[in-house]
Order: sequence, then structure tokens, then C-alpha cells
Amino acid sequence: MLIINGMYTRIGSTPVHHDVSIEIADAEIVVILGSNGAGKTSLLRATMGLLPLLSGKVILDGEDITTLPPHARNRRGLGYVPEGRRIFGPMTVRENLEIGAYAVNPPAVELEAEVEANFNRFPILREKAADPGSTLSGGQQQMLAMGRALMSKPKLLLLDEPSLGLAPQMVRTVHDTIKMVQQTQRMAVLLVEQNAGLALAVADRVYLMARGAIVAQGTPSELAGSDVLRSVYLGQAEPAS
Ligand SMILES: Nc1ncnc2c1ncn2[C@@H]1O[C@H](COP(=O)(O)OP(=O)(O)O)[C@@H](O)[C@H]1O
Ligand SMILES: [Mg+2]
Repeated sequence: MLIINGMYTRIGSTPVHHDVSIEIADAEIVVILGSNGAGKTSLLRATMGLLPLLSGKVILDGEDITTLPPHARNRRGLGYVPEGRRIFGPMTVRENLEIGAYAVNPPAVELEAEVEANFNRFPILREKAADPGSTLSGGQQQMLAMGRALMSKPKLLLLDEPSLGLAPQMVRTVHDTIKMVQQTQRMAVLLVEQNAGLALAVADRVYLMARGAIVAQGTPSELAGSDVLRSVYLGQAEPAS
């Protein structure tokens, strides 16, 4: 589904990624686990076309998309849930969802069917459909951000730290939603997380990222309890689980 091959990036004059290579199969859930500042958000921004590559390639479903702008990547099947959710506060919940289909621009009947699909996934969004986005709780905003990304019916969903700041019950909902879209829609997911508990619970495969490089990879059972997993968190508080 996605291949990132030999990616180097920088922000301003600061190097961020060093030779990052990642592969995601159809309907696979891949997690990039790393501490604050490791380069997770920048990885998703580069995948989405919001941060240019210095070198390397991004291949989506066999097509080289390395130089395509974000809206063209969205049309080709990349959905993006940014860090911090980025809900449009003054707009209603329904309008926030509709915005998610903007680049794809489906006929009205398909747009409505996709809004309805999200109301079925997240019943609270139906209840609050006419309310401003700003009135939602953090967990509800996370559901809205995920619903908005699902509006374009992506083949691959990019998720940036959806568990951040959420109560354990809400983290559970995020986990269940990721598994549901994998199973019901055969969607692939690229999740970046600091939360090792969520990462190891939901992932088919995990890459550990530190200082802009991939330092280990494996299945959750291969990585759980490994020294390298601990070393990624060295100098940090215990990762939440
Ligand atoms: N706007 C920016 N200007 C300069 N450096 C940045 C900027 N955004 C991120 N960085 C640097 O890039 C690195 C990776 O950041 P980021 O991708 O946000 O990490 P993560 O999401 O894993 O916390 C960090 O060292 C960070 O300091
Ligand atoms: Mg980040």
C-alpha cells in the first residue's frame, strides 16, 4: 500500500529524517513508536506532502507520489488526522465532516452516505451534528477528526497521536475504531504514537523511531520488553500504557 524509501528531510536548516524506510501492506496497521521530538509528526507531514523530501521516495499503491501536493494525495487515497485534531471550532460537527470530502468532491448522495456512515461509527456525532465543533470534549473531537478523515474513503489512514490527552476509556475507543476500519473497510493505518500501550495493542507491526531514524522494527510480541524499546524511552518518564 505504501512504501517510503530512503527518506531524508529537514525543517529549516535542521535535519529531521535520516534514511527512513517503511512499508505498509494492504489492510495492515503499522505503528511508529517514538518519544517526543523523534520525528513522528514530520513523517506523516512528509507522507501527506506537507514537508518536502530532500531525497527518497513515497510510493502509494505502486504510484510515485513523492512530488504530489496534499490534495492530490488525498484524492489517491491518503486520509490524515493531524496532531491536536485541528477541528474547525465555529463550524458544526456536520460541516466538519463534510470538509473531509472536499478534495474528493463526491456527488451529494455519496457525501450524505459517508456522513451517515460516520454517525453510525460515532453515534455521539449524530447527537451533536448541529453543534459547533468547539463544544465537543477532547475525546469527541478525536472521533470527529477521525470521521472527517474517513469522509474521503481513504485506502490508508494516517493518524498522529490520537490518544494524546485522552482518558483511558477514550483511548480504548480509538483502539476499537482503528481495528474496525481495518476489518470492515480493509483500510491500512499508519499510526504514530508515544503511547507504547496503545501501539503494541493495536499494531500488526511496529517501527521504533528515535532522532529521525528507524532503530528497530518487529511485531508487538517481538518488541515487547525488548531493550531497544526501553532505550527509545531513555531519559523520559515511563510511557503511558
Ligand atoms: N517548525 C519547526 N521548526 C524547527 N524544528 C522543528 C519544527 N517542527 C519540528 N521540529 C523539529 O523536528 C524534530 C521532529 O519533530 P516532530 O516530527 O514534531 O516530532 P514528534 O512528532 O515525534 O514529536 C524535532 O527535533 C523538532 O524539534
Ligand atoms: Mg508529534
